[in-house]
Amino acid sequence: MAARVCARCLPRAWLCRRARQGYGRHYRAALCAELKQPLAIGDVARRPVQPHEVRVDVHFCGVNFADILVCRGQYQEKPPLPFTPGLEFSGTVLETGADVSTVKEGDRVIGVSNFNAMAEECVTDQKTLWKIPEKVSLQEAAVLPVSYGTAIFALEHRARTQPRETVLVTAAAGATGLAMIDVATNVLQAKVIAAAGSDEKCKLAMQRGAQSSVNYSQGSLKEAVKKLVGSRGVNVAIDMVGGDVFLESLRSLAGEGRIVVVGFAGGNIASLPTNLLLLKNISAMGLRLGHYQHQDFAVFSKTLSSALQYCQQGLIQPHTGAVFNLEKINDAFLHVLQRKSTGKVLLSLK
Ligand SMILES: NC(=O)c1ccc[n+]([C@@H]2O[C@H](COP(=O)([O-])OP(=O)(O)OC[C@H]3O[C@@H](n4cnc5c(N)ncnc54)[C@H](OP(=O)(O)O)[C@@H]3O)[C@@H](O)[C@H]2O)c1
Repeated sequence: MAARVCARCLPRAWLCRRARQGYGRHYRAALCAELKQPLAIGDVARRPVQPHEVRVDVHFCGVNFADILVCRGQYQEKPPLPFTPGLEFSGTVLETGADVSTVKEGDRVIGVSNFNAMAEECVTDQKTLWKIPEKVSLQEAAVLPVSYGTAIFALEHRARTQPRETVLVTAAAGATGLAMIDVATNVLQAKVIAAAGSDEKCKLAMQRGAQSSVNYSQGSLKEAVKKLVGSRGVNVAIDMVGGDVFLESLRSLAGEGRIVVVGFAGGNIASLPTNLLLLKNISAMGLRLGHYQHQDFAVFSKTLSSALQYCQQGLIQPHTGAVFNLEKINDAFLHVLQRKSTGKVLLSLK
């Protein structure tokens, strides 16, 4: 049967392969048609939902480092071109497939998707959606999947942070950094030393619950931490920057300290001096949220449900630093890349 490409998409038929399935309606989406180039906003034809799938009217979508990396071809996953970036969203259910039992039309949900969410609509499997409790707004909820998911896994699951322990968080005023502060202080009753690249960012981290802060653009992180906690060091370090910041965080640990590698926002991957692990009985570990999403979904799902409950109870307060419209997606990416962001950057689809 010949492909039916609707008239509106005819000049860019590659956008509209799905029109074959008979769906005439379109929605706007960010499109990466060529790696390392600015994204375009295009019209994408709807496709029918499968029996286990749900169509969501997307209200907010998180802008994550991973979105930028995947659009540059620098991420571990390489979706075929053209693709729509976006790993997480909040919105309302528009349509459900015949076998869907977990949500119904009109429900407010958060969801995770494999690079598909920077669009007015997202079709996803029912099991990748979680209902938003009544006291949580769609904007707050959109911050939870990646940033708070990562924070809970890093602090609870990997580092096994205990009450009253001291946690050093680098890139502390970023989306994941502020989530780390929130979870460490308000859920786990630990104390946070926030490390960030400017006085303004340090101030924000303190306002969001850190007990003390270090501006690591102004000298040695290790020396500054030593001044705060003495030679005993910190119990846990969560590093999202890499390179020298990782090495200084490692050197700031107390005996039996734990360091969690979460990211390399600075662009450099440090080599681990294993003698330091031996000398102080230190554990170094990694955290990749996607591992749980794809390999241990039950734990992943429980963690997102916990994040929603913490939010409903008022234990955590997700912070949005900037909201961009879909048309400004390239500005949103630059905002993150130029280190201007504080807290979560969201796209608004409304
Ligand atoms: N492993 C996982 O599953 C996982 C999950 C989420 C995020 N991450 C990673 O965690 C890191 C932070 O993510 P995020 O969402 O919190 O990002 P974000 O909000 O954009 O924060 C990133 C922060 O990194 C710091 N940074 C240092 N050098 C930088 C550079 N050259 N360019 C840009 N930023 C730089 C900046 O803070 P200062 O100016 O204060 O240094 C910036 O605010 C990223 O590397 C991301 O890939 C990993």
